[in-house]
Amino acid sequence: MIEFQTKERLEKSLCDRIAEIIRLAIQEKGCAKLLLSGGGTPKELYHKLSALKLDWNKVKIGLVDERFVPIDATHSNQKMISEILLQDSAKEATLIGLVQNIENYTENLETVNKLYEELNEADLVLLGMGADGHTASIFPGDPPSIQCTQDQLPLIRNTNAPSEPKRRISLNKPFISKAKHIFLMITGDHKRQVFIQCDEKKYPIHCFKEEISEVYFTTN
Ligand code: 6PG
Repeated sequence: MIEFQTKERLEKSLCDRIAEIIRLAIQEKGCAKLLLSGGGTPKELYHKLSALKLDWNKVKIGLVDERFVPIDATHSNQKMISEILLQDSAKEATLIGLVQNIENYTENLETVNKLYEELNEADLVLLGMGADGHTASIFPGDPPSIQCTQDQLPLIRNTNAPSEPKRRISLNKPFISKAKHIFLMITGDHKRQVFIQCDEKKYPIHCFKEEISEVYFTTN
């Protein structure tokens, strides 16, 4: 776990690290693929990233998870990432959302499972974690969430959150695990405790502990 004095310093360091990963991927393969989390924690990081001078037109961005709400709804991760990250220099990036058909939760899942094949073997997955130890939209005690951690397919599942918006869409563990780098960004002493206790308490984040190569943490 890399601990920072302030959230600002954490964001600066993580921003530089992500830039390095993007540059290297473009240099090696001509494109970079990122899978990003929603929630409140990474918002300022995304703002910082948006100002970086990179070949953003060669960057494809997908979501680690989404709420099944219209893409212009307050709780939409796609909306948040579009409005914060896909601005400034980064507006040239391509964002592939997890809500393609708001009329039908099941059909949407089929569509996104096909669409996200192009985001397989991503260069970076950025995970967050909730106070209950969930990550992506893989929640404690939710059967589809458990399948997300155990089954190879489908790559993406519809899961259930304990609070609104309850209908979620989440990448599964095998999909996330194929990424070259998996980072976790968490803040606050409570989340640190949850992360430390995750194996013992079997919080969903524990399924990813082995795969996460860098944990970015600050108490502030
Ligand atoms: C989401 C997420 C989720 C998030 C945690 C932490 O869409 O909500 O991707 O896994 O990372 O819930 O959220 P906060 O950063 O808001 O605490």
